[in-house]
Amino acid sequence: MTILAMDQGTTSSRALVFRDDLTVQATAQHEFPQHFPRSGWVEHEPGDIWTSSAGTARAAIEKAGAPRIDAIGITNQRETVVIWDRNTGEPIHRAIVWQDRRTAEICDRLRDEGVEDQVTDTTGLLLDPYFSATKIGWLLNHVDGARDRARAGELAFGTIDSFLIWKLTGGRSHVTDATNASRTLLYDIRKGEWSDDMCRLFGVPRELLPEVRDSADDFGTTRADLFGREIPILGVAGDQQAATVGQACFQPGMMKSTYGTGCFALLNTGDQAVRSQNRLLTTIAYRLDGKTTYALEGSIFIAGAVVQWLRDGLKLIREAKETQALSEQADDSQQVVMVPAFTGLGAPHWSPNARGAVFGLTRNTGPAEFARAALESVGFQTRDLLEAMRADWPQAGDAVLRVDGGMTASEPAMQFLSDILGAPVDRPKNTETTAQGAAWLAGYRAGLCPAPDEYARAWQLDRRFEPAMSDKDRDRRYSAWQRAVQAVLSV
Ligand code: G3P
Repeated sequence: MTILAMDQGTTSSRALVFRDDLTVQATAQHEFPQHFPRSGWVEHEPGDIWTSSAGTARAAIEKAGAPRIDAIGITNQRETVVIWDRNTGEPIHRAIVWQDRRTAEICDRLRDEGVEDQVTDTTGLLLDPYFSATKIGWLLNHVDGARDRARAGELAFGTIDSFLIWKLTGGRSHVTDATNASRTLLYDIRKGEWSDDMCRLFGVPRELLPEVRDSADDFGTTRADLFGREIPILGVAGDQQAATVGQACFQPGMMKSTYGTGCFALLNTGDQAVRSQNRLLTTIAYRLDGKTTYALEGSIFIAGAVVQWLRDGLKLIREAKETQALSEQADDSQQVVMVPAFTGLGAPHWSPNARGAVFGLTRNTGPAEFARAALESVGFQTRDLLEAMRADWPQAGDAVLRVDGGMTASEPAMQFLSDILGAPVDRPKNTETTAQGAAWLAGYRAGLCPAPDEYARAWQLDRRFEPAMSDKDRDRRYSAWQRAVQAVLSV
C-alpha cells in the first residue's frame, strides 16, 4: 500500500509518499509567493496553490520510484477562501488568506449588533477576521457581479481542500470535510450541517457551499491524466486537525500543539462541544464513521515567526537555527520579556490591534537576550492557552502536551515550555505528524490502516521534557509575562 499526502500550507505546498507502515518514502516541497496588497491584507494566487500542489505531488511520486498510489489524503491551511466559476473553473479573485485582517470592521460592527453569542453558540468560533465567512462576504461585495452569480449557482466557494479536490477531480467533486467546514463561521458544529442562520447573517448564499463529508470518506477520484490513472481521495482534514490525528490524540484530555509560523493547540474533548468561557475556540477535531469528536483550540499567530523577525527584521542571526546558541549566551540576571503581538494577539485575548513590545531592557541587553526572550515568548503564550483550557474544562489539568513543528527541534525552547507550564512535554519521533494524519485518514477509509487505538499504540516518543524550574521562579516569570501582556493590551 502507498498513500500520497498533500499538505497545502500557508507558505509552501508539500507532498509526501507514505509506505504501508506510514513511514515516509519521499517528500517534495515548493514555496510560493505571498501577496500583501495593503497593510494587513494577505492573498495567494489560486493558480500557484494548484500548480505547486500538483507539481510537488508528481515530484514526490517520482522520487519514491513511481509506485502505484492507492489513496490520497489532503491537509491544508484552514479558513483561507477561494471562490471560482463552476463552468470555467476560473477563480474570481485571489485567495484571501486566514491571516488577512481586511474584514476587522465588519466583525466589529456585527459584535456591536450583539450577535457574537449566537455565532459562538452555533459555530464554536468568535467574530474575528481570521475565519472564512466575512472574507466570502467581502469577495461577493467587491468583485463585479459576484453576488448575483453566486445566487444563480454559477460560483463555488471552497477552503483550500475543496479547491484542490475540485481541481484534482476535474470539477466533478465540490466537497469538504467537517473539520474545514467548522472553520468557516457557517457550519453548525453540533447539528453537523451548514447553518441557514449563519448564511443569512454573513450574507452567503447556500448555493456557494460544498457538501460536507467525514474526514475519512469518499471525496472523488483524480483525473486520470494527472498521475497516470484515477486515484481515490479518501482523507481530508485541516492541518491542525490532521496533526491532532497524526499525534494520535484520540482520547478526551489528550492535547497537541504545533509550532510553525504560529502555534495551534488542540485539546480533545471527546463528544462534548465545550463552550469556552475564556475565548478559546470550539472546533471539530475529526469526524470518523459519522461520529464527531470535538476540541478546544487556542491559536497564537506568532510563534516561529518571531525567529524570522530576529533574522529578517533585526538581522541578529543569519539562519533560524542560530537562535538556540545565541539564546544560551543570554545573561541570566536580565529578565527581558518580549510580547510578539506583531499582528495583534490571538487566543485568549483576540486583540487584532495590539502590537508587540519588549520590556526589561538595560544597557547590557543585546542580541542574546533578545533571542532568549523570543524563544520564551512561545512558552509563555502556550501557558496562556493552557490556563484558558484548564479554566474551561477541568479535565485538561492532567493533560500531557504533545508537540510538533519546526520549533520543537530546539531543546532549550522545549525545556522552557515544560518549565513554564510546570508539566511534561512530549516530543514524538515522527516529525511529519500533519501529513501522517492525512495519510492515516485516507488509509483508514481504504481499510489499509489500523483503527485509532492500534494506530495510537504505534505512536513513539522521542523525548519527554520534565519541568525543572522551581514553583517560585515559574510564578515570578509568568507574572512578569502577564504584566507585559496587560501593558500591551492597554496601549
Ligand atoms: O488556521 C491556520 C492554519 O491552518 C495555518 O497553518 O501551518 O499553514 O501556517 P500553517
